[in-house]
Amino acid sequence: MSGYIVDDAHKITTHRFIEMKHKGEKISMLTSYDYTTAGIVDQAGIDGILIGDSASNVMAGNATTLPITIEQMIYHARSVVRAVKRALVVCDMPFGSYQAGCIDGVKNAMRIIKESGCDALKMEGGIEILDTVKMILDAGIPVMGHLGLTPQSINKFGTYAVRAKDDAEAEKLISDAKALEEVGCFSITLEKVPAKLATIVSNEIAIPTIGIGAGNGTDGQILVVDDMLGKNNGFSPKFLRRYADLNSIMTDAIGNYVRDVKSSDFPNEKESY
Ligand code: KIV
Repeated sequence: MSGYIVDDAHKITTHRFIEMKHKGEKISMLTSYDYTTAGIVDQAGIDGILIGDSASNVMAGNATTLPITIEQMIYHARSVVRAVKRALVVCDMPFGSYQAGCIDGVKNAMRIIKESGCDALKMEGGIEILDTVKMILDAGIPVMGHLGLTPQSINKFGTYAVRAKDDAEAEKLISDAKALEEVGCFSITLEKVPAKLATIVSNEIAIPTIGIGAGNGTDGQILVVDDMLGKNNGFSPKFLRRYADLNSIMTDAIGNYVRDVKSSDFPNEKESY
């Protein structure tokens, strides 16, 4: 939404997310990191787009989400915001932008909102980051929580396996979700947790839960767009459903282009000035 006059009354807001939960309407979300993809995702009717810090893996080829910077997140988010007319646009706060304390977190949150124009931010963690989340909310910035597998803590977890399988971690996750709701978060992402636990959390809080690898009892679902489009065949977790095989389509198309250039078939007369 770039102009002063907002002409699309159907733009999805954080309030609409909460209404959708109350009406029992499932919320669809995908990630996007660039203008062209975000435009397609938006036009296809998605409810929310996340500029995930998974851009670190998907766009830059890093092994973890840890190296991506605020500047890089803002670059991706700005590109997405320019393309989106309808979906709610949420941007991840990257690792290191809010863990050092409240003031640092609020300043970085305001910077991402100001410089990218996104609608809301997502932050990983529960009680440990609650003061910072509260201060960001007090600054008028909507926050989506993120519990379960929180990839910014990969070096602490040591594995990308399913989280909260034992009672202690499950209980902490439920109390973290309630604390995030109480402080004013508009939604919570639940990543790679048992479906039964995700259903319990979803039933116990009034704000929508968005699951990834969290079963069908959450209020919405999110996937990484490049994964669900089948661009990257090397990543096949159990929770991923592939809706296309872009890897093969792109490889074939590029192979055909290479063949046509080599054989001097491209460009032909019609394709020349
Ligand atoms: O960064 C990301 O893409 C995410 C989703 C997996 C929820 O946080």
